[in-house]
Amino acid sequence: MPEAERLATAAAPPLADRLAATRALSLALAAPLSEADATLQSMPDASPAKWHLAHTTWFFETFLLRDRLPGYRLYHEAWPFLFNSYYEAEGQRIPRAKRGMLSRPTLAEIVEWREHVDNALAGLLVDPASFPLVELGIAHEQQHQELLLTDIKHALFQNPLGPALWAGSAAAARAGEGAPEWHEHPGGIALVGHQGAGFAFDNEGPPHRILLEPFALAGRLVSNGEWEQFIADGGYRTPSLWLSDGWEWVNKRNISAPEYWYEGEHFTHAGWQVRDPWAPVCHISYYEADAFATWAGARLPTEFEWEAIAQAHNPWSGCQLDEAGPVRPVGGDSLFGDCWQFTRSAYAPYPRFKPAEGAVGEYNGKFMSGQVVLRGASCATVRGHSRASYRNFFYPHQRWQFTGLRLAKDL
Ligand SMILES: [Fe+2]
Repeated sequence: MPEAERLATAAAPPLADRLAATRALSLALAAPLSEADATLQSMPDASPAKWHLAHTTWFFETFLLRDRLPGYRLYHEAWPFLFNSYYEAEGQRIPRAKRGMLSRPTLAEIVEWREHVDNALAGLLVDPASFPLVELGIAHEQQHQELLLTDIKHALFQNPLGPALWAGSAAAARAGEGAPEWHEHPGGIALVGHQGAGFAFDNEGPPHRILLEPFALAGRLVSNGEWEQFIADGGYRTPSLWLSDGWEWVNKRNISAPEYWYEGEHFTHAGWQVRDPWAPVCHISYYEADAFATWAGARLPTEFEWEAIAQAHNPWSGCQLDEAGPVRPVGGDSLFGDCWQFTRSAYAPYPRFKPAEGAVGEYNGKFMSGQVVLRGASCATVRGHSRASYRNFFYPHQRWQFTGLRLAKDL
């Protein structure tokens, strides 16, 4: 049995162990970074690696230590202003686009703060009433680990030297050859949304029924080689393939290929590498995914079609993040891993959705406007973080995440 599947069938490690592993992984991901690397902010959507290390620590200090540990005093009174992300209930903060101006505190000072907070958290790990927030803090930090990887990739891409954080991986791509198999679904009433006792974000519930028409979902992701055919066929120059907003985006930004592509290579955490035609295509926008699907005579799945198929699949499978090192999609037949998959579903609340009480209620609900849902997990998602009901979401033009597509069709 593969290691990942063995882990999935074993009992989850104790909460304290999972917290320690999560906190350690963040530091391991940042280990190859210089102080300058860790301070870079290449665009407003991205944050410095140093800021991710600090913000995740702010989350634990604020919502657990400050609010739940009697007598706890903030490590530094001025730092919540720097490291609050978007929580209005937590007051003023620096503008998002200014995060790259924080040359101080230093990386070393933030690492010291992390140790201080980790030690103090031990005092709450004996209080079962704190466990749900610790779970949320772990899941939150895992999300930022993925963002740390995608943000630093975007930052280093700006450097003409094409810096490599890690040496390249030897794993060979194993998808993209021949026509895909299809998962067929007869349609009918399906129950979607998070069910059961495990952790889930509030946006994954409540579970509810939806009606599906008969459909099929591709057994693999679209590959680089197939994307090259789309380009060669004039895909980026054919307005009939594009949504109106997408056509405007392509022309205004002069888009002619996925992010990080240049001739036969693409930029990775291991620097510039020859692109593998069999590997899943990634770093595409919703607009590009939709145009490709139209060109291919197919369409994007809805998030509920995707979920109805994924309920029978192992979320621990596929190419996901197991340890610090270079990440890249390699492909396979898993529903999970490699790339987040665009759906055609708008990110909206489920029936009877209610955000959590207090500041953490700002976590998901207030972003339910103008974004699209992505399903699955990517090569930069910590294994075990995602599940069939998991809803990721981005604006249609964004593509610095590991975003790809899986085709769907009507039956
Ligand atoms: Fe956050």
